Amino acid sequence: MGNVAVLGVQWGDEGKGKIVDFLAQDAQWVVRYQGGTNAGHTVIVKGKKYILHLIPSGILHPGKRCIIGNGVVVDPPELLREIEELQREGIEVDDRLFLSETAHLIMPYHKKLDALSEKLKGKRQIGTTLRGIGPAYSDKMARTGLRVHDLLRPERLKERLEETLKVKNLIIKEFFGEEGYSFQELYQDALAWGEALQPYVCNTVHLMKKVIQQKDPVLFEGAQGALLDIDHGTYPFVTSSNTTVGSIFTGLGIPPGHIHRVMGISKAYTTRVGGGPFPTELKGEEGQCLRDRGGEYGATTGRPRRCGWLDLVALKHAAWLNGLTELTITKLDVLDTLKEIKICVAYDIEGELTEEMPADLDTFSKAKPVYKTFSGWEGTVKGATQWKDLPLQARSYLEYIEDALHIPIRIVSTGPDREETIIR
Ligand code: GDP
Ligand code: IMO
Ligand code: MG
Repeated sequence: MGNVAVLGVQWGDEGKGKIVDFLAQDAQWVVRYQGGTNAGHTVIVKGKKYILHLIPSGILHPGKRCIIGNGVVVDPPELLREIEELQREGIEVDDRLFLSETAHLIMPYHKKLDALSEKLKGKRQIGTTLRGIGPAYSDKMARTGLRVHDLLRPERLKERLEETLKVKNLIIKEFFGEEGYSFQELYQDALAWGEALQPYVCNTVHLMKKVIQQKDPVLFEGAQGALLDIDHGTYPFVTSSNTTVGSIFTGLGIPPGHIHRVMGISKAYTTRVGGGPFPTELKGEEGQCLRDRGGEYGATTGRPRRCGWLDLVALKHAAWLNGLTELTITKLDVLDTLKEIKICVAYDIEGELTEEMPADLDTFSKAKPVYKTFSGWEGTVKGATQWKDLPLQARSYLEYIEDALHIPIRIVSTGPDREETIIR
């Protein structure tokens, strides 16, 4: 199968976890390269549900090996909890999970600062997952972050933590008027995390080089989606990492040329969790119907997801940015009961029609969707495993999408379970 990148092309939660798990059957390595515990990737195997936040979804396949690359931000106690949960389910993690020594850490003060700065923003809050993502990536860029290997070097950890904690405590206490952190307590906790994580830590850049040179098939598991990209998404209503394809190279330390297929994952409609403009959002009953049928509640925070029609303008933007070679459409079954289905084919921005997504948020906020309407299918696609078993209307809907994007749809997901999948 070569090396395949699996990337969200909307605002996250497209069903990447399910598709990575499905494709992992043919891979040897499944790797994460950006994002952190803000991700919630759901995998359902024979009715049993797993939600993964940091560990690549390939871990559920015995024998497949998983890497958490340098571009990921790692919350050590959360990672340890995830490892323990899997072990409790009888899933072996030792010798199958490799953690980059240079991945940056999400520390408890990052989570606190995430919450405090959201509160400060009031009505203009981003609606983050409160997992400390923004503050941790900020420290990385400011060169004040702690990395995984600092946990394994007590002297250096002491120095770096002392230095950074001084500033964090000043902000937390003096600016926000909240309680700060005790150096000793945090230092002892961090040493314990280091000891527990030590067996997984290695130089993943060297490991990836070996994997690629020996031509082991690799799946690159993206987190979030293209429209949440820090550079190309709906800034400031985005996450704090690049969610588009370039992150694979920097987040793992591999040169270009080793990604053979770039698969974009999109729902058959659109969802978004958190703040920010969403031109095709359905606020009334129709939106609620999609939320109910799709079970659209966040895998990480449980928040109800905002729901709306598919947006081809945004998808085209994501397709270009990522150089998609193919598409997967998930949750087709959610549209089963609808009489009519709409796709946004252009934006009307103050009377001007455009098929390009504006970069400026004020302009994007004014975009009114121009729709093409499709008739729904009478019957159900739930659980279908063959393209030919899809009703004609469902096939027309999908064919319209691939024609408009000039990208073939290779996989259609017709239910949350691993088996409920069509390969074309
Ligand atoms: P991810 O973050 O991209 O991995 O997606 P999430 O796991 O956050 O959200 C996707 C949700 O949709 C999960 O609850 C999945 O179990 C579910 N799901 C995935 N594919 C399908 C599908 O084809 N049909 C239905 N009904 N649910 C799906
Ligand atoms: P997966 O990998 C959906 C959203 C948050 C918020 C914004 C910033 O499961 O698709 P952050 O905590 O990253 O600072 O929040 O990004 N967000 C996601 N939305 N799926 C995700 O991940 C997300 N990760 C972050 O809701 O709007
Ligand atoms: Mg998710």
